[in-house]
Amino acid sequence: MSYYKIDSLEQYFKHYNKSIREPRKFWGKIAEENFTWYQQWEKVVDFNMAEADVKWFVDAKVNIVKNAIDRHLARRGNKTAIIFEPNNPDEPALHITYNELHQRVCKMANVLRAQGIAKGDRVCIYLPMIPELAVAVLACARIGAIHSVVFAGFSAAALATRINDSDCKMVVTSDGGFRGNKTIGLKSIVDEALQSCPSVKSVLVAKRTNDEISMHADRDIWLQPLLDEASDNNVAEIMDAEDPLFILYTSGSTGKPKGMVHTTAGYMVYTAYTFKNVFNYEENDIFWCTADIGWITGHSYILYGPLLNGATTVMFEGVPSHPDFSRFWEVIEKHRVTHFYTAPTAIRALAKENIDYIQPYPLKSLKVIGSVGEPINEEAWHWYNDHVGGKRCPLVDTWWQTETGGIMISPLAFITPTKPTYASLPLPGIQPVLMDEKRNEIEGNQVTGSLCIKFPWPAIARTIWGNHQRYKDTYFSTFPGKYFTGDGALRDEVGYYRITGRVDDVVIVSGHNLGTAPIEDAINEHPAVAESAIVGFPHDIKGNALYGYIILKETGESRDRNNLANEINMMISHQIGPIAKLDKIQFVNGLPKTRSGKIMRRILRKIAEGDFSNFGDISTLLNPEIVEEIKDGRI
Ligand code: PRX
Repeated sequence: MSYYKIDSLEQYFKHYNKSIREPRKFWGKIAEENFTWYQQWEKVVDFNMAEADVKWFVDAKVNIVKNAIDRHLARRGNKTAIIFEPNNPDEPALHITYNELHQRVCKMANVLRAQGIAKGDRVCIYLPMIPELAVAVLACARIGAIHSVVFAGFSAAALATRINDSDCKMVVTSDGGFRGNKTIGLKSIVDEALQSCPSVKSVLVAKRTNDEISMHADRDIWLQPLLDEASDNNVAEIMDAEDPLFILYTSGSTGKPKGMVHTTAGYMVYTAYTFKNVFNYEENDIFWCTADIGWITGHSYILYGPLLNGATTVMFEGVPSHPDFSRFWEVIEKHRVTHFYTAPTAIRALAKENIDYIQPYPLKSLKVIGSVGEPINEEAWHWYNDHVGGKRCPLVDTWWQTETGGIMISPLAFITPTKPTYASLPLPGIQPVLMDEKRNEIEGNQVTGSLCIKFPWPAIARTIWGNHQRYKDTYFSTFPGKYFTGDGALRDEVGYYRITGRVDDVVIVSGHNLGTAPIEDAINEHPAVAESAIVGFPHDIKGNALYGYIILKETGESRDRNNLANEINMMISHQIGPIAKLDKIQFVNGLPKTRSGKIMRRILRKIAEGDFSNFGDISTLLNPEIVEEIKDGRI
């Protein structure tokens, strides 16, 4: 019996039970039957949750790109692997076959090696959503270099922090990128970042916008001429199962981003398995995930998951609003997309627009629609289900995280009955538990608590780059022995999970995970600012937006508040990126603090939400009078 594909609800329960009772047999069989290995494992899993130590397929040898590309060539060489849909609808789409992708990745792998990149080196990839991005990622993985993709919307300062944290030896970028009607000068952002990145020895530059850029002699090299010269014969590196595959940064509750490290074999097995089952992907389907490859969703479900299954995956350079709000629907029709996977924030933005943008598009090619990145509210769920899914496509609300590598809780398309706003049931191998404030596991149904996972799964991140202690502290110490997700959840009467949102200092804005601490750090650098506190508040389209409470220094008191607010947002944009700008800024004389000096964010959150009821006990505050004052000045 094979466990790779689940065909019915009954079978789901069977596989699920098997995966819990005998995880080693379950994952061992999946790994053995569906991938090619240079060498088999000694042990399927080895772990010590208290030490945050997890290993899968111990001592196995494998290359993920051999599995994602080479393995398919005999049967699917002429099948389209990637459909590239450019930002400008008048520019022709590209269909890259598995043969062509193989050739391009091999050439790029040879270029990287010729530039001195070897197994274990870190390569930062800062590219727009163009084929070179996919090729660079896969080429790194082919030669065992650790890719660190930084979303091309991040600022120079944010890019520099990420490059320095993992001592990247090379940056792969482009002259610029197109997004809607904007052109973004990526190379100049890289130039600025590299003023403070001594580890970077070379920069490979792809051409996209043809804008004039400056090339630094001895450091910057145009990519295309190197590729033109390179051989397409490349021997992939033999990787250990636990060799790092990539680093991807995510926000934390302290200023520094966390470089989550994913390793090779477990990530490969889990992304392939979840892609196949959650989306119920069949051979000739066309899968489109609208995320950027700069986020985990793009890593796992634009690239690795689909390619490991020999699928056709769409890579879209543009935005849903350009040239108008029918772009998504137009692309679905154009490429006969069968699977569409997007974020609630995009759905809310599109639902707000005139229905005439979607109505002319029958969208009959669609079979499955999916949601990811934040809780999907009831209204958005129904709009998506009715207008995009035509009430006939299962809507899979997939809950997971950068740290989890792949989808953890989700309906399986055509198998699990869906329920609006519920991510529903855990995937095989995933053991969610809800914990109460006293750190006890909450049994039974119709309960809420902090969501933890009590057994390792193959794609769990193994560490934070350069800081295992922080990894342990962040994820394994709140509830000792368990992985703490940072999310709260509800389990309904039949055991379905609904994710209610973050329970820590991370705010999800338009599906982007933003830590409040780094934003506060950026604001506090403004010479007129003494202190600040950021909280999230509900927003119709973005899900959450940011509300900043700011205390000015005496020198700032006389300044024009609007100018200051603009300057502060510019600083945030510069330090982090425009996605972290504040929607509302309230200048205050103080912040509610406990006697130990901790800001009481709970109260600030309530004020930002406009909910003045029940602040709870504020008598323990150092300065209870400030609460009234802030409340009265709310904007
Ligand atoms: O709060 C959860 C929310 O997004 C967080 C993870 O963010 P990130 O690491 O950027 O990864 C996003 C893409 C996987 C989670 O802790 N989240 C993600 N998916 C859902 C969700 N919240 C509710 N429902 C979801 N389907």
